[in-house]
Amino acid sequence: MADQSAPQDNPAKAWSGRFSEPVSDLVKRYTASVFFDKRMAAQDIRGSLAHARMLARQGIIGATDLADIERGMAQIAGEIERGEFAWNLDDEDVHLNIEKRLTALVGDAGKRLHTGRSRNDQVATDIRLWLRDAIDTILGLIREFQLAVLELAEHHADTPLPGFTHLQVAQPVTFGHHLMAYFEMTRRDAERFADCRKRVNRLPLGAAALAGTTFPIDREFVAAELGFDEVCFNSLDAVSDRDFAIEFCAASSLLMTHLSRLSEELILWMSPRVGFIDLADRFCTGSSIMPQKKNPDVPELVRGKTGRVNGSLIALLTLMKGQPLAYNKDNQEDKEPLFDTADTVIDTLRIYADMMGSRVDADGTRAFNVRVKREAMRAALRQGYATATDLADYLVKKGLPFRDAHEAVALAVRGAEKRGIDLPEFTLEELKAEMAEVPRAVPLLEADVAHVLTVEGSLAARQHIGGTAPTQVRAAIARARAALA
Ligand code: ARG
Repeated sequence: MADQSAPQDNPAKAWSGRFSEPVSDLVKRYTASVFFDKRMAAQDIRGSLAHARMLARQGIIGATDLADIERGMAQIAGEIERGEFAWNLDDEDVHLNIEKRLTALVGDAGKRLHTGRSRNDQVATDIRLWLRDAIDTILGLIREFQLAVLELAEHHADTPLPGFTHLQVAQPVTFGHHLMAYFEMTRRDAERFADCRKRVNRLPLGAAALAGTTFPIDREFVAAELGFDEVCFNSLDAVSDRDFAIEFCAASSLLMTHLSRLSEELILWMSPRVGFIDLADRFCTGSSIMPQKKNPDVPELVRGKTGRVNGSLIALLTLMKGQPLAYNKDNQEDKEPLFDTADTVIDTLRIYADMMGSRVDADGTRAFNVRVKREAMRAALRQGYATATDLADYLVKKGLPFRDAHEAVALAVRGAEKRGIDLPEFTLEELKAEMAEVPRAVPLLEADVAHVLTVEGSLAARQHIGGTAPTQVRAAIARARAALA
């Protein structure tokens, strides 16, 4: 512990020169960020090396300084990787910890590294480098999730289940079609992340503390070294705004919202009261008291973790909203929500890609982690009069106005309900009798109505792009595969 009575002698603080009193331990802890921003060590070193190369190229530091800095940074990178680096709270953050170690290793060259830059543009650069990598990881994982969904959807391109509105049986759809809805949602999610990446990938370095620097720097060179598409055009904006991080969190919230909806469905489908699916054991847990239980813990946690991701979005929006230009220490609070969001999204996608996936057994059969119980889906369709709209459409196609057709079919449903049967179980004569109160409907009913009332007939009739006909579902899957190729 440094001697707090003689702060000027304490070499720990890079900025302590003008202070007459040391900060208390509590303030030190409160203001330090090293224990969470050390995650950006690799990015910090990369950024510093690019900066040092530019300084040497511009003649701002000497060639030997650069060589010393490169040698020192290589050693530091090794120490961090091996877990040997001594992170120190006294050195506040990742930037000062690394710079201090560099100076200890290579002397003056280490002290020259910070020429023409500030921690303000340094940290903004580090976060962007870090986030760019996280986005690339997420984009790869969304793709893996989508490939798993496509496989499952293809297997069930013809499997009927009730489509719901208001959680009431509405019309038949195929399970493949239902799954493809999530493919579309995550396709937009991937677009959002890719779009966000464009704005993340701009270089703040060169903005220095806020106003730029008096040294003849070459920002384009640094941008190219670090793989940035362009430089941030305004120094005040470059060091202060975190809108790119907010955008990332917003895209994450939407992705998690989609996965939360899917989770809710898996949970519901797995409930014995519904029983549409079974989920492989390794995504579930038992109960410590009720031996019969198999709980869908993973989907439940995804649903739950959506809350913390939404919370991080609000945290960052709130963090930003009151800040005057330019940099304020408030911004140090951007990291934990951002890291937590990326961690949560990455873990969630990884586990979800696995959960929606399959494995090929020794005998060559493919076993999906989501096991569909076709009979239960079919039984639910029967109970819900799912082809009632098809019957109405049939009458409309024969000239009956839609409102009259709606009424005639409602009568038939009422009759079926009374008798405890489904619509296809009526004979033609019985159906006519049920619709007697709408006389115009009766002569329109002919033998071909039988096919219209079947689930297969209903599905096959929705024959257009975006419809649930199995041929259309297969076409959608083929389109999706081509887009991912
Ligand atoms: N640890 C700080 C952060 O995360 C780095 C920038 C500090 N700049 C300063 N002027 N205190 O934002």
